Amino acid sequence: MKNDVYILGIESSCDETSVSIVKNGEEDIATVVLSQMDTHANYGGVVPEIASRMHVENITMVIEECLNKANMTMDDITAIAVTYGPGLIGSLLVGVTAAKTLAYVYNKPLVPVHHIAGHIYANNLTKKMTFPLIALVVSGGHTELIYMKDNYSFEKIGGTLDDAVGEAYDKVARIVKVPYPGGPLVDKMSYQGEDNYDLPLPLDDDSYNFSFSGLKSAVINLVHNEEQRGHTINKEDLACSFQKRVVDILTKKTMRALEHYNVKNMIIAGGVAANSGIRTKFTELCASNGVDLTIPEFKYCTDNATMIAAAGFFAYEKGKRAGLDLKAKANTKLE
Ligand code: KG4
Ligand code: ZN
Repeated sequence: MKNDVYILGIESSCDETSVSIVKNGEEDIATVVLSQMDTHANYGGVVPEIASRMHVENITMVIEECLNKANMTMDDITAIAVTYGPGLIGSLLVGVTAAKTLAYVYNKPLVPVHHIAGHIYANNLTKKMTFPLIALVVSGGHTELIYMKDNYSFEKIGGTLDDAVGEAYDKVARIVKVPYPGGPLVDKMSYQGEDNYDLPLPLDDDSYNFSFSGLKSAVINLVHNEEQRGHTINKEDLACSFQKRVVDILTKKTMRALEHYNVKNMIIAGGVAANSGIRTKFTELCASNGVDLTIPEFKYCTDNATMIAAAGFFAYEKGKRAGLDLKAKANTKLE
């Protein structure tokens, strides 16, 4: 019988300091997430310098708290997994340095995890992932379609040419003067309105790529034009029209990819997987097309270390290791 594998995961790529212990890539033993959101909300967005300073202040305490919560010591841990990128460089450095220190002091293997691999494996905490599958990654920094032939194999088949979905949500939120982080609020507002604004369906072509800057500009122009005419914008209607275009183009291209690759398993990953429009429409479409859809629980959609420890298990099983020279990378491809 194989021994159980306990991975301690560390995530600090943006504004959450998080540590988690996951058993065999599927069972959340203990997770601590310290969000800095309230602090950054005062500035209307994440301030990198403040984020890294807060990570430094909190990381040791969060590691200790997680071990206490799990009622475990470092002796019980098989390996340390850490987000090495992409993200804010100063923030990443704190997690990477903490992980290296633990690996060195306690003589544990160090496993490097790409942040997006983490978002993808958040799904394994809900249901065992089956392959091949298509992953739709939608976050503040990413919008990608990924074909996974097998565990821990990632083939990008399309991605955004400009803004990520979450980024577009946050910018639209700013235009209609919704406080940071605007994405969830725009999502909520969209249900109080109707699709009354004539916005374009962005990059409606045969590729698997996306583009959201045109849609964002259409929203900006519309708001400016209406303001100049002395008209008031119906924010709920605008949120509804915007969300509808986003959901329409994401579903259209993803459903086509599933058919083209003859894949019957699909997962959604990233912070925007919390979007109710996306969740509802994909659930409907996948059910009627015989596609097995998994979406992470809300708590695993936004940044957390549970997903890093889950991905870390599969990376560990594949023999992925980093030395003490592991570098944090602000930009790095998922391979
Ligand atoms: O994955 P994540 O926590 O951070 C990145 O790795 O980027 O995603 C954060 C993004 C933000 O842009 C936030 O506005 C967006 O996810 N988001 C949403 C919703 N919840 C979070 N966007 C639309 N609808 C939501 N319900
Ligand atoms: Zn993320």
